[in-house]
Amino acid sequence: MMADHISGIRACVFDAYGTLFDYAAAAAACRDVLGEKMDRLNAIWREKQLQYTWLRAIQGRHVEFWQVTGDALDFALETLGIDNVAIRNRLMDLYLTLNAFPEVPDMLKRLKAAGLKTAILSNGSPKMLAAAVANSGIGDFLDAVFSVEEVGVYKPHPKVYQLAVDRLDIPPRAICFQSSNAWDAYAAAAFGMRVVWCNRYGQRPERLPGTPDRQVRSLAELPALIGVD
Ligand code: LAC
Repeated sequence: MMADHISGIRACVFDAYGTLFDYAAAAAACRDVLGEKMDRLNAIWREKQLQYTWLRAIQGRHVEFWQVTGDALDFALETLGIDNVAIRNRLMDLYLTLNAFPEVPDMLKRLKAAGLKTAILSNGSPKMLAAAVANSGIGDFLDAVFSVEEVGVYKPHPKVYQLAVDRLDIPPRAICFQSSNAWDAYAAAAFGMRVVWCNRYGQRPERLPGTPDRQVRSLAELPALIGVD
């Protein structure tokens, strides 16, 4: 037997925010104005943003991620007593000007060179994702960008993971999915994909269906895990 890498992978599919794109680094740029409130604002904003996606999915009341992100930001700003339109606009704009984590371009290049398909599968709206892909300069290393807008419901609805299967025309067991969000990684595993949980933020394991195949701290480790030199 060869080393125990995940075998039979034909496509690598990536979550966007926090996985390929470094949101926290962009937000840190607003520390000059918000000071120590920045960390609390970010935490409330992200938590509320995800809650709203889950709640809207359960209610069957989908609106696109740009609105959910803005609603969550308004909630967070109000919670901290910040009444400042310029800051709101600046924080929302960060989503359109994100950079990739440092290891991402080279990692994607290696996957492409090995003949694998690469794609994003994200809650982000097509406009938000196109802006981040363009700004980070990784478009040449991606075969596709899939937005939940195509199915009208948020992760972790199985329809979202099915979208990647259908559009790539590759079965779940031949897709390796990467997310830094533990709940997203677990859901993709429960759906039937192979999963590498990129646990950049040191999150705890979830008590949810599905078990990621591997856990790493950086996507630089991905190629070796799926047998790419
Ligand atoms: C996404 C969120 C979950 O990109 O990070 O889908």
